[in-house]
Amino acid sequence: MTTASPMPIAQLRDVSKIFDPDGAALVALNHVSLDIAPARLTAVMGPSGSGKSTLMHVLAGLDRPSSGTVHIGEREITALREDELTALRRRRIGFVFQAFNLVPTLTVRENILLPFELDDRKPNAEERAWITSIIKRLGLDARLKHRPGEISGGQQQRTAIARALATRPDILFADEPTGNLDGRSGREVMAIMSEAVRELGQSIVLVTHDPIVAAYADRVVFIADGTPVSELNDSISAEVIAQTMLDLDAQAEAAEDAAAGVAQYDSETAPYSSSVAQYAVGTRRRR
Ligand SMILES: Nc1ncnc2c1ncn2[C@@H]1O[C@H](COP(=O)(O)OP(=O)(O)O)[C@@H](O)[C@H]1O
Ligand SMILES: [Mg+2]
Repeated sequence: MTTASPMPIAQLRDVSKIFDPDGAALVALNHVSLDIAPARLTAVMGPSGSGKSTLMHVLAGLDRPSSGTVHIGEREITALREDELTALRRRRIGFVFQAFNLVPTLTVRENILLPFELDDRKPNAEERAWITSIIKRLGLDARLKHRPGEISGGQQQRTAIARALATRPDILFADEPTGNLDGRSGREVMAIMSEAVRELGQSIVLVTHDPIVAAYADRVVFIADGTPVSELNDSISAEVIAQTMLDLDAQAEAAEDAAAGVAQYDSETAPYSSSVAQYAVGTRRRR
């Protein structure tokens, strides 16, 4: 393990994102500065609506910030033209969405190879060997000719992860990758992600509501109201994560109560709460 802090693989500098639906400015990200270390699993947590997905989209170059700069490695992606950004995203960035976003008419293999198709090229020998190895590792060998509708949710999510890893991206972003999965499939996905970090030096940033999932991370960044408010590092227990989230949720609720007439959203609270109830007692420490 190195002691010097390596150059960040992704970096936000004073990033704000303001949405302007019907002229009512909504600050989704509020002057965020954040460094993401390479070869680490970073989890992002926060109350519903706190800006987690916006943060991921801005980091991955899927959406542009209103102000501030975003770097992936040494490239300032906020300075790139749209076509340059698209090319960089295809080659250097992987993204796994909660809704797996597989193409239903393509087979598992075709879905995994889609990034190459979109980049208008064929994987070379080395890339083919890599793809074969991730397919094996993810246990998808026997499912390559199936279509997404013919495989389980866990297998669909593993296909989405294989697709995101296929181009060996510098960094992989995953927005609630275990959100639609049962506990066992979720653990399977997390085991694969941690393995990619430990054994292959993959850099991963993931959003999750589940303290058990976040406990796999090397670092957990908590955001509230569009800005990082605290973080945990190393030997992070699900119990401490759950408590931090409960505190943030309580603060968010209090703020909402104070702001009369603000619409409630909160579709995500239910699974999160049950996850805490299920896991907050008797959770184990990882690593
Ligand atoms: N495309 C959009 N247009 C308008 N408002 C948006 C858009 N995307 C997100 N928001 C708003 O920005 C805030 C942060 O959203 P989001 O990043 O999705 O939060 P989270 O992922 O933490 O639940 C929310 O208030 C949300 O309603
Ligand atoms: Mg979200």
